[in-house]
Amino acid sequence: NVDPTLLRAPHVTLTPATCSRCTVEFFPSLLPTTSPCHRTSLLSPSNPSRILVLFFLLLLLLLFLLLIPHFSPFLSSLERKHQIHSYKYSKKNEKGKKKKKRERMGRPNSLAFVASVVAAAIVFLCSSAPADAKLKTTYYERTCPRLQEIVSRVVTDKQITNPTTAAGTLRLFFHDCFVGGCDASVLMATNAFHRSERDADINLSLPGDAFDAVVRAKTNLELECPGVVSCADILALATRDLVSMVGGPFYPVRLGRKDSVVSDPGAVEANLPRANTSMSQIISLFASKRFTVQEMVALTGAHTLGFAHCKEFAERIYNYNGGGSAAFDPSMNPRYAQALQKACANYMKDSTMAAFNDITTPGKFDNAYFQNLGRGLGLLASDHALLADERTRPFVELYAANQSAFFADFAHAMEKLSVYGVKTGRKGEVRRRCDLPNNSL
Ligand code: HEM
Repeated sequence: NVDPTLLRAPHVTLTPATCSRCTVEFFPSLLPTTSPCHRTSLLSPSNPSRILVLFFLLLLLLLFLLLIPHFSPFLSSLERKHQIHSYKYSKKNEKGKKKKKRERMGRPNSLAFVASVVAAAIVFLCSSAPADAKLKTTYYERTCPRLQEIVSRVVTDKQITNPTTAAGTLRLFFHDCFVGGCDASVLMATNAFHRSERDADINLSLPGDAFDAVVRAKTNLELECPGVVSCADILALATRDLVSMVGGPFYPVRLGRKDSVVSDPGAVEANLPRANTSMSQIISLFASKRFTVQEMVALTGAHTLGFAHCKEFAERIYNYNGGGSAAFDPSMNPRYAQALQKACANYMKDSTMAAFNDITTPGKFDNAYFQNLGRGLGLLASDHALLADERTRPFVELYAANQSAFFADFAHAMEKLSVYGVKTGRKGEVRRRCDLPNNSL
């Protein structure tokens, strides 16, 4: 039975759950898969630039092979010359000594050329390491040691006063990372000259409380350690803390992201899924960002939190397939569909009307979302498609039956998402205000 009072998102007060269990239970099990060695290795199969690296190594080898025939006669003639000259002039005069010194210098110079080619290659290999390899959990250890404590305190307060913050921040993070990488570009505001990502249609429903959580943390951090911590790092940490605060798994967040200096609304639509995007397109979109089908399903388990506006699922509950206003998608639980029809009756006039994504435990991060799918209680067409599609169904069934498997996979996929397309070094900046690039201050 569906309790209709649970359907209307704004009316339920959520109490944040504590999560000491998560740290103990999930953090150790993550260690082997998140070892920095595994991720930073240039030739590791998980490293997307490995083909480039291998190609360059081959090129280097080829260069060596081509150069050796040129160098060996040259080097041996120098050697012979050196010996003759040493014999002839060593005992003669000061002039002879100087000449000998000059010739001795000749050999190291040619060797120095080879050495500098090798050194340049090493520098190239190091600089072509993926940006995420430069991130580390201790990045602000010296420059802002109280960072984690401050972020955690600010977002905890925010979640207690506004219980929708956790879901909103998690979605905000996903929308930031999938559009040009986790660089806080979604936080930039539109100005007189440029529209920004956050004003793209799909982002208009991102809740203000999520932006506010990051801004509050940033304000506190600017007082503690000005100009040091990027907004992208704050968003990544805030998301992790909020997820674990509402009962989800804890996972390590590597730090050192830089913020973008631009925010392009034109890049948004093609990089984010819609509720009516087909499962094949969703799978391709995630695959284009190197996420597997299983990782996509685990990440979408985020729909265990938060809500969706009625317009996102209206096609499923009204006039389904042109069958009349009361016709709903037959794959839905009938009582659930009818309750949603009532809850959203006014959605055309009131665009704020919404229903919880996970009707059974809307404020708790758990595996109920996957269990609901099997009972026809999936809200969005894309949620139901996870169960309907044979490529994704096995993972839905696994996570519905085993919450620990879901938590471990979600944590691992979130770690991967949180380093997607990050900018480091001079490819970005530490914004002083999260909504503006520094050059406009
Ligand atoms: C698989 C494809 C996905 C589709 C088609 C999708 C679509 C949607 C839609 C339409 C909404 C409702 C937005 C609204 O009406 O305000 C929503 C909400 C949400 N999505 Fe997704 N999403 C997907 C994947 C993800 C992923 C990977 C995450 C996070 C890692 C995520 C996190 C959330 C959260 C937390 C909410 C609730 C937001 C809130 O309450 O403010 N979604 N999603």
